[in-house]
Amino acid sequence: MKFFIDTANLDQIKEAKDFGILDGVTTNPSLMAKEGISGAKNIESHYKAICEIVDGDVSAEVISTDYQGIIDEGEYLATLAPNIVVKVPMIKDGIKAISYFTSKGIRTNCTLVFSSGQAILAAKAGATYLSPFIGRVDDITWDGMALIADIAEIYAIQGYETEILAASVRNAKHIVDAARSGADIVTCPLSSILGLLKHPLTEIGLAKFLADHAKANG
Ligand code: G3P
Repeated sequence: MKFFIDTANLDQIKEAKDFGILDGVTTNPSLMAKEGISGAKNIESHYKAICEIVDGDVSAEVISTDYQGIIDEGEYLATLAPNIVVKVPMIKDGIKAISYFTSKGIRTNCTLVFSSGQAILAAKAGATYLSPFIGRVDDITWDGMALIADIAEIYAIQGYETEILAASVRNAKHIVDAARSGADIVTCPLSSILGLLKHPLTEIGLAKFLADHAKANG
């Protein structure tokens, strides 16, 4: 399973890269706004800055919701760097646009996915990545991980090549469960990735090794 970081924060992207486990980045308009990035020129430079840090794919989301707007915006975003993937919402014009981008060799990430039916449509349109929002499904007391497992089963049966990118990840357990449920990629905050490190027995064991070494070596 690949690890993407779900942020527009350059320091966190650099930290994840330095950690040695980073395969890509996903952003969305809320994450860009959280970093105070606004205005077409600033947004463009920020995407370029992210693409300079990471070699892997970087999802840049369109804000248009009509077919021609999505096409114009997506084609422009795709020119910013070779590792840009155009992120398109799961709406009728979005699916139509993904189909167009597929025919032009522009890679896409279909976002705001909450059902297996939506996942089938995105795969049929040729989306490179599919982003089911597991945390938001859990928020309404449905089962985000069951959604990942169902989509993984359908994609395997049908031989769809679209990769399942588990999104809206909130903690380290989500990452482990996404791996078990068949996600190809998980995108998450840095805190969730670092949460995988934690185990009290590791801390206790390391403290004892170091104490024993110090005792034996003076
Ligand atoms: O990748 C989508 C993600 O950013 C949404 O996460 O926590 O806002 O549901 P969240």
